[in-house]
Amino acid sequence: MTLRQEVRHVSEAADIVPDFEQDSTIGRFRFYDWAGSDWVILFSHPHDFTPVCTTELGTVAKLKPEFDKRGVKVVGLSVDPVDSDEGWAVDIEETQGTALNFPLIADHDRKVSTLLDLIHPNASDTTTVRTVLVIDPGRKLRLTLTYPASTGRNFEEILRVVDSLQLTDAHKVATPASSQQGDDVIILPSVTNEAARALFPNGGDEQKPYLRKVPQPAAAQ
Ligand code: BEZ
Repeated sequence: MTLRQEVRHVSEAADIVPDFEQDSTIGRFRFYDWAGSDWVILFSHPHDFTPVCTTELGTVAKLKPEFDKRGVKVVGLSVDPVDSDEGWAVDIEETQGTALNFPLIADHDRKVSTLLDLIHPNASDTTTVRTVLVIDPGRKLRLTLTYPASTGRNFEEILRVVDSLQLTDAHKVATPASSQQGDDVIILPSVTNEAARALFPNGGDEQKPYLRKVPQPAAAQ
């Protein structure tokens, strides 16, 4: 059963990422137990010992303090076995100047990749695509992003999305195109003007009835 099929069973209203277990570089990986009440970024990559992926894993390791600050746990996934992951980790430390500080799911039998739709048969029957999932503490899937195999992902952009999602959850606001921390934000269209006056008593800039901007509330979470 794939994620989309599973979601239909689990919830009519939201894409709930189902629990799973698999081997990993930290032993048996039980997704829900490991995630606890944190946000999760799960990112898949085509294979161990590939050049773009090597740079991505080094970049993610260096960003660990940023993930920690936001209450986000990170986990990588490919279809290689644990001993391959462990050998590759040595290369990552040597070439990227940082040791891996997050687990890798060793999805050797493609059980998790199939469940989460991380293999696209038109790309390859056997290789995971370069996908990022952002999953909230309620296990809801909040972002899916898939890149070409030959393009390394921008993990600062993923952090920007997490900041936006956390602002939305905490303050009922959305974030404009290319917005950065501290920029004005947009009151969610679902918030009535009356509710908006209570939420944002200092007011804001109503450029259109549907485009109501206010200063960014205090840092998310
Ligand atoms: C990689 O490094 O994963 C990669 C690079 C070019 C094409 C496909 C994969």
